Amino acid sequence: MGMHGTSQPLLEVEDLSIGFAGDQGVIAITDKVSFKIHPGEAYGLVGESGCGKSVTCLSLLKLLPVPGGRVLSGRILFRGRDILKMTQEELRSLRGGEIGMIFQEPGAALNPLWPIRRQLLEPFQYHAYEGDPQQRIRSLLDRVGIADPDRVLSAYPHQLSGGMLQRVMIAMALCLNPSLLIADEPTTALDVTVQAQIMELIEDLRREFQAAVLMVTHNLNLVAQYADRVGVMYAGRLVEEGPVDDFLRNTLHPYSQGLLAALPRLDAGSGLMHPIPGQVPRPADYLSGCRFRDRCPHAFEPCGQKPDLFPAGEGHTVACFLHAPAGAPAAAGATA
Ligand SMILES: Nc1ncnc2c1ncn2[C@@H]1O[C@H](COP(=O)(O)OP(=O)(O)OP(=O)(O)O)[C@@H](O)[C@H]1O
Ligand SMILES: [Mg+2]
Repeated sequence: MGMHGTSQPLLEVEDLSIGFAGDQGVIAITDKVSFKIHPGEAYGLVGESGCGKSVTCLSLLKLLPVPGGRVLSGRILFRGRDILKMTQEELRSLRGGEIGMIFQEPGAALNPLWPIRRQLLEPFQYHAYEGDPQQRIRSLLDRVGIADPDRVLSAYPHQLSGGMLQRVMIAMALCLNPSLLIADEPTTALDVTVQAQIMELIEDLRREFQAAVLMVTHNLNLVAQYADRVGVMYAGRLVEEGPVDDFLRNTLHPYSQGLLAALPRLDAGSGLMHPIPGQVPRPADYLSGCRFRDRCPHAFEPCGQKPDLFPAGEGHTVACFLHAPAGAPAAAGATA
């Protein structure tokens, strides 16, 4: 709630299920994922590798790998308009325009055959822009900490380091002042110092342009520092969601607790951490009922059923029977 309580959401993802077609038919990966992002809000989507964060992000702009990837059900509304029903032209004007995207791998966003200048200027061809594009890209390169823009502008992607490419991609995502920036692991490829710089940059730009950010990461420390809300994903499902402060103070899902316990802690002296035993299953091996139950220290009999997202405080929900309201079927011991 809070300051976003009354505004119209910028992005609404409703019951989004994504699947991939393979030899054995279509395998569902995400299961009815729902979340909202309000204007100017930073939303952190977290979970271990393979939980479905990237496929969720890609589907938001209808960029799932084709053929194979497909939306099985659900809606994605941007300013109330259904992205899944948009024409190619409408989509093109969203991508790189109102919605900027930083991909997990810079290689995916950049054309290896084009010098950087051409890549950065390309979005301007498809969108109305008042100012001077050349000036705009120079000022953005400066903002992303590129000290020698001339060299970078005339370079080809393979001539630049990973950190440089990441900065170029961020500049490209921002060149038309998007109202939503989707940043899929914007810093994993970078060393810690550059990581911090990039996060500060995204934060600055968010404040300056009131852009909303969907930030995907493994790293709950980044979420704690930069996000307003957090969604925790496990095996294709959102298992806990809430305002970051409340989530950190009152972490409810055993998976979320496990993620927090696994964080390296500088203040703990030894730096020892406790990874969650086991690993994220592949989609073909998802359990029925709660998908986390085979790794969960608290699993009990109701977990054989699928838990709803139960309310757990102001804007906070959790999909775990430990927190089922009294009288909910599983809490009452039903086994159906
Ligand atoms: N093209 C594809 N074909 C089939 N399955 C895929 C494809 N792309 C992703 N998947 C599967 O979808 C699941 C979710 O993958 P996704 O890349 O979204 O995870 P992620 O949460 O982004 O992980 P990471 O943190 O490693 O980036 C994985 O099990 C993955 O194997
Ligand atoms: Mg990913």
